[in-house]
Amino acid sequence: MNNTNQAGKGPILELRNLSIALRTGNAGVLNIVENISFSLHQGHTLGVVGESGCGKSILASSLLKLAPNGTEERLSGQVLLDGHDLVPVGEKAMRQIRGHKMAMIFQEPMTALNPAYRIETQMREALRAHKRIGYRESQRLIVELLNQVGIPQSRTVARQFPHQLSGGMRQRVMIAMAISCMPELLIADEPTTALDVTIQAQILALMKDIKEKLKAAIIFISHDMGVIREIADYVMVMYAGELVEYSPCDEIFSRPLHPYTSALLKSIPRSKNNADELYTIRDTVPQIGAMPRGCRFSPRCDCALPRCHEEKPSEIFEGEHRVRCWKYGNI
Ligand SMILES: Nc1ncnc2c1ncn2[C@@H]1O[C@H](COP(=O)(O)OP(=O)(O)OP(=O)(O)O)[C@@H](O)[C@H]1O
Ligand SMILES: [Mg+2]
Repeated sequence: MNNTNQAGKGPILELRNLSIALRTGNAGVLNIVENISFSLHQGHTLGVVGESGCGKSILASSLLKLAPNGTEERLSGQVLLDGHDLVPVGEKAMRQIRGHKMAMIFQEPMTALNPAYRIETQMREALRAHKRIGYRESQRLIVELLNQVGIPQSRTVARQFPHQLSGGMRQRVMIAMAISCMPELLIADEPTTALDVTIQAQILALMKDIKEKLKAAIIFISHDMGVIREIADYVMVMYAGELVEYSPCDEIFSRPLHPYTSALLKSIPRSKNNADELYTIRDTVPQIGAMPRGCRFSPRCDCALPRCHEEKPSEIFEGEHRVRCWKYGNI
């Protein structure tokens, strides 16, 4: 399963000052994501964390140029895939890139699976969209892929419809479809969140296995810092549409710099049975269109200085560790 599409030495994905606005039917134009930059190399997994509504899914789907239904996405900045900017690329060319160079795994597999078709029909279509292969070869590949993602009785499952499978099995099928064309970039948006706890652990183990074998670049979105710790090489922490901290994974846990990251880490339950121990960040995330003037986290921050309420912090670099916070304003 080694990835043969690999690029040279440069990053597979590089975002340069990417901002995303959504044009919606009744709410007008909403600025959802602002000024995100990072690079991601082959074989590396970037974990993306942040509270609900901070723009993780919009960021992920914008890379494939898939706007939510009923909206239109406006991207500014650059999204470089193998050095080629996708921002000006039209829908026709994007169809060739989706599923081939980039693939996505969604939280709810039914978003991507068609309930009306057998698994094998959907997988064959995905395979044949990008490869010239005959029926027999596609059947062989489908069974091989289903085996690879740990589906028992893969021949039988291939003949079934999505509703005949459990949530965990459907997610395995989604993963099989996503890896079928050996993408260079795999985006997984909360792939374990909708599943039972025991199944979550199995799917996470499968994702780790895929990471080792596919050697693709992976963007892995999760609410769960515990999950991120297990799979990510780098972590990006988002708050209200902005990158607030980015660093190698170990450092986020051993030396978080942004007060928001520290608060997220404090809110991980130490014991699953004792809800009393849970730390919660005071107040709520600001609304789109009513963002605080300075640092967007400042109204909720225990360390906020007067300056934080007035001026946006610029980004401070310390090796690969990046943070936007006035606490480190004069480093
Ligand atoms: N179809 C839409 N129309 C209008 N606004 C939208 C739409 N989809 C998302 N948004 C807004 O964009 C922002 C970011 O949403 P997004 O789904 O990316 O958040 P998220 O970080 O993935 O949250 P979660 O952790 O709950 O999945 C939110 O404020 C949301 O209200
Ligand atoms: Mg989401």
